[in-house]
Amino acid sequence: MKPYVICHMLASIDGKIDGSFLRAVTGAGDYESTGAMLKGDAWVCGRITMQQHFADNAPFISASNRPAGPQPVYVARRSQSYAISVDTIGKLRWSKNNIDGDHLICVVSERVPEDYLILLRKKKISYIVTGKVSVDLVQAIKLLGKHFGIKRLLLEGGGHINGAFLEAGLIDEVSLLVVPGIDGRTTIPAVFDGVNSSIKKAVQLKLKSVEQRKNGTLWIRYSVIDQ
Ligand SMILES: NC(=O)c1ccc[n+]([C@@H]2O[C@H](COP(=O)([O-])OP(=O)(O)OC[C@H]3O[C@@H](n4cnc5c(N)ncnc54)[C@H](OP(=O)(O)O)[C@@H]3O)[C@@H](O)[C@H]2O)c1
Repeated sequence: MKPYVICHMLASIDGKIDGSFLRAVTGAGDYESTGAMLKGDAWVCGRITMQQHFADNAPFISASNRPAGPQPVYVARRSQSYAISVDTIGKLRWSKNNIDGDHLICVVSERVPEDYLILLRKKKISYIVTGKVSVDLVQAIKLLGKHFGIKRLLLEGGGHINGAFLEAGLIDEVSLLVVPGIDGRTTIPAVFDGVNSSIKKAVQLKLKSVEQRKNGTLWIRYSVIDQ
């Protein structure tokens, strides 16, 4: 069973997602408290977001550089809630097997070094190895449902992992907090970024609800119309 995927993001009115830049126009805790209302049993982020906010500062350096190749799913434990990182070649170093109590699952490709997986097992961190060169997101989502019982997954950025989920047709809903601010910088990723430029039409959405908040923030929810 594929989990239901909600992409939950905060953005300026020009769709940029640098949270620290937008802090002055964002209500304290708004992103997190709104996310909690979506009642996910897991949340997932791309490698860059995980590095910025949650993983250890120093990256993992492999001693062997021997790719692990295909591997069975490793379930260190089942949990009520999960934090999931998508990290193609195992760059992120983790000292704990949870983020604020959410059990950590690392999703990596077959290029991940063997000694990275040994370290994860030692730390009782669960993992999924899927995809020869890059992570096979479609397969990863199926395995998250099958092995961990995840039913409702919050996709929480950044822009490039969101773009990849979108391209793979995995997103069911978008939950967007539009804060009253403008960014405008070209270097900052958008809510959905890095999508193949050969795609010629917008992904169609259906408005579910709009909530206007006191500080001028809008909480907009859309369903993704099947492609
Ligand atoms: N405003 C918000 O709601 C919000 C939420 C989250 C994050 N953010 C911000 O977003 C920014 C980071 O966004 P980002 O777009 O640069 O990075 P990102 O989406 O967090 O991470 C992208 C990385 O994920 C890994 N990845 C693995 N499989 C992938 C696949 N199939 N497709 C794409 N990526 C894959 C890649 O790592 P490898 O390079 O190792 O392959 C890729 O470089 C940060 O500034 C963060 O603070 C904002």
